[in-house]
Amino acid sequence: MKYSTIHVEASRSYDIVIGRGILAELGGLMRPLLGDCRLAVLTDSNVDALYGTIIMEHLQHAGYKACKYVIPAGEASKCAESLLSFLNFMAGEQLTRSDAVVAFGGGVVGDLGGLSASLYLRGVKYVQVPTTLLAAVDSSVGGKTAIDIPAGKNLVGSFYQPSLVCCDTALMDTLPKEIYRDGCAEVIKYGVILDSELYKKLHTLPFDREAVVARCVEIKRDVVQQDEFDNGIRGLLNFGHTFGHAIEKLSNFGISHGEAVAKGMVIAARIAPLCGLCDIADELSALLAEYGFDITSPYSAEEIYNALLTDKKRRGGTISVVLPHSVGDCTLVPLPVEELKDLLQKVI
Ligand SMILES: NC(=O)c1ccc[n+]([C@@H]2O[C@H](COP(=O)([O-])OP(=O)(O)OC[C@H]3O[C@@H](n4cnc5c(N)ncnc54)[C@H](O)[C@@H]3O)[C@@H](O)[C@H]2O)c1
Repeated sequence: MKYSTIHVEASRSYDIVIGRGILAELGGLMRPLLGDCRLAVLTDSNVDALYGTIIMEHLQHAGYKACKYVIPAGEASKCAESLLSFLNFMAGEQLTRSDAVVAFGGGVVGDLGGLSASLYLRGVKYVQVPTTLLAAVDSSVGGKTAIDIPAGKNLVGSFYQPSLVCCDTALMDTLPKEIYRDGCAEVIKYGVILDSELYKKLHTLPFDREAVVARCVEIKRDVVQQDEFDNGIRGLLNFGHTFGHAIEKLSNFGISHGEAVAKGMVIAARIAPLCGLCDIADELSALLAEYGFDITSPYSAEEIYNALLTDKKRRGGTISVVLPHSVGDCTLVPLPVEELKDLLQKVI
């Protein structure tokens, strides 16, 4: 079988291995990294129903003793209660510091599994096995872990790199269309911020999943290696997200993350020419429409501006917004919030 391996140099260096059917190789890939340890597999109810038995069989065949913990599918499980329950489960199973966590699922499981691994016994190793397109190209790469608290999403977390990411692209065959499309918004984002060739390829649908996932992972790897702890260039990955998060929040999370990011990218693209940068708004809107995204904003400039004021990335009176110079070349522009209000009124 043909696999791609992408190496990440960070505070803990690791490989991301991508390929169709690679789940069968998971045990063999982990062996040199984890040795002969016990594994706590964290997954959600949907992934468990589809692939829970098969992953446990693969691990058993590779000689691993593994136990499994299943959380209800959905963002609501990325919470303090699930974190504590999973930590208690690992303690009850008497997992030791040489044992490891396998996060088998989408971004919810990946974020919760990573945070649990960073906390249990002050840190055990963990492996990400992403099962959504979003988790494959985004959340499983870069070591950000988190849970949500009542005050907001992802407000509690850590930077904690995995020992391995094993991405079996065949698992995405069972994703509901809307969930797969959410991941496509992130894929398009990578093209706009850093790779015009990738962007061109995304006009051919369906795209070559293995090649596109591998390219997106390389782009995220390159960014994370320069700015692991998110103090600078990693902010580029937020293209469309500043406005997207505001829209998600305003909709009380009724608008999916991908759809909100798509709307947010179009707002950013419309603002760019008003800041003396190029205008890619029409062509980006056309590409997003090909993927079935509704790119209109259901909220007024005023509503989005007010939601932005609580953005956790705001620094004093300034919010950094990612704006395109051209497709494949974006820049972080710090904008005073008052100016942002004016700009939003002109584009929405
Ligand atoms: N850590 C990071 O850097 C980072 C980056 C981006 C997003 N995130 C986080 O990721 C989360 C979103 O991730 P997500 O979109 O993967 O959501 P998710 O984990 O909730 O998965 C979406 C849905 O798909 C289902 N699913 C997963 N794999 C499946 C499969 N192979 N077949 C069928 N159904 C499957 C899940 O059960 C769930 O219902 C958010 O919490 C977000 O904050 C983290």
